[in-house]
Amino acid sequence: MAKATEIEENNDFEMGNPYYCKECKRNHTKGKIYKEHLNFAKFENGDDENNLDENIKLNNDDYDDEVELIEAFNENDNQENKIEVENQLEDDLDLDREVDPNIGESLKECINAVKKLPGVGEATLNKLIKAGFSSLESIAFTPPKIIQEESGLGEKTTEKLIKSSMEQLHIGFKSAEDVWEHRKNIARITTGSQELDDSLGGGVETGSVIEFFGEFRTGKTQIMHQLCVNVQLSEENGGLEGNALYIDTEGTFRPERIIQMAEGLDMDHKKVLKNIIFGRAYNSDHQILLIKEAANLIKERNIKLIVVDSLIGHFRSEYIGRGTLANRQQTINSHLHDLLRLCDIYSDLAVVVTNQVQAKPDVFYGNPLQAAGGNIVAHGSTIRVYLRKGKGEQRIAKIVDAPHLPEADAIFSITENGISD
Ligand code: GTP
Ligand code: MG
Repeated sequence: MAKATEIEENNDFEMGNPYYCKECKRNHTKGKIYKEHLNFAKFENGDDENNLDENIKLNNDDYDDEVELIEAFNENDNQENKIEVENQLEDDLDLDREVDPNIGESLKECINAVKKLPGVGEATLNKLIKAGFSSLESIAFTPPKIIQEESGLGEKTTEKLIKSSMEQLHIGFKSAEDVWEHRKNIARITTGSQELDDSLGGGVETGSVIEFFGEFRTGKTQIMHQLCVNVQLSEENGGLEGNALYIDTEGTFRPERIIQMAEGLDMDHKKVLKNIIFGRAYNSDHQILLIKEAANLIKERNIKLIVVDSLIGHFRSEYIGRGTLANRQQTINSHLHDLLRLCDIYSDLAVVVTNQVQAKPDVFYGNPLQAAGGNIVAHGSTIRVYLRKGKGEQRIAKIVDAPHLPEADAIFSITENGISD
């Protein structure tokens, strides 16, 4: 396997290959990034914003241990030690071990589903789990080449595994009845503003990718924060009693803001923070990888909301110049389809993304601003909300291109306690 640093120089990063992380100044490989970057936000009130990175720490000892183990494994070229570490890793994969009871139960459930796939014996199961494929979703989603490389399984076996995982998850053709069943499961998360909820037909709906786009400071990030809190509310209060996964590409996630919002709703802010799984994406490849790995976490961690803030930022800054446009659009398209596929599988999962606007120079009448990313994003997301500034705290939202939703403007405010009317 080539060294990640070499890969960076050669500039031919491929999914599943070692990935050199500039922030950590070390290599990551598939299945391991999460343990390091996808930390729980653990933050005490009144902490300095500059200490954010230090304060967002893993609060799950289990994962801490795993990181250490993997680090040792990566850094150790000595064969004897390697075997020792490998054995320890195997012990750690003991399905009956004591882990956080909540995580343990759902992880076991996921692994059991993999175990039941035709042709999966003890050896195959071990290889899969060790390579980080502990759920049907992760197998169905990952390109076969990566599964083969990571797990050491053969081409035929991998093909069969993917096919039967997809069947189990009902990916592919389905009857209208199944589609109806899926639609019936759609639920909604309140935004905190009645008016905005009404314009969305009752709140942010699950089973769709919803895009909030607008100029800077129009409240996109604030809405994302609020949804992460609100998704945890009980159903009668407008939530889904679920957890949130926050992919931050701009470094604007603020736990202290979450605390304010949670307190505004009389919720225990410690619990609220613990239920938001946070991942900082440092570049577009990293962002794509995080979403691919998210497939593994949704069931395990009862995730009901995925936030990507912002969807296009990295792509915009990395693919510069006309010549790269086709390539960029193709990559964004495939990234969006990863998100859409998650919604297809989990009817009780909402995916919300933000998008910047860019000036469209050839528009002389009407609004010259349009969402970045062009048609691809427009066609990929199911519901699009355009945000603009009003007076003071007020913001105005308009639903774009959704024939089943009202055209009227919704006015909401960004207050100390978060989003409200
Ligand atoms: P970009 O990411 O720069 O494109 O902007 P954005 O659309 O994500 O804006 P964001 O959600 O960060 O909104 C910023 C606005 O929210 C600020 O202009 C403030 O008006 C408001 N805001 C942010 N934090 C607070 C807060 O703690 N209290 C109050 N009252 N308002 C806040
Ligand atoms: Mg923002």
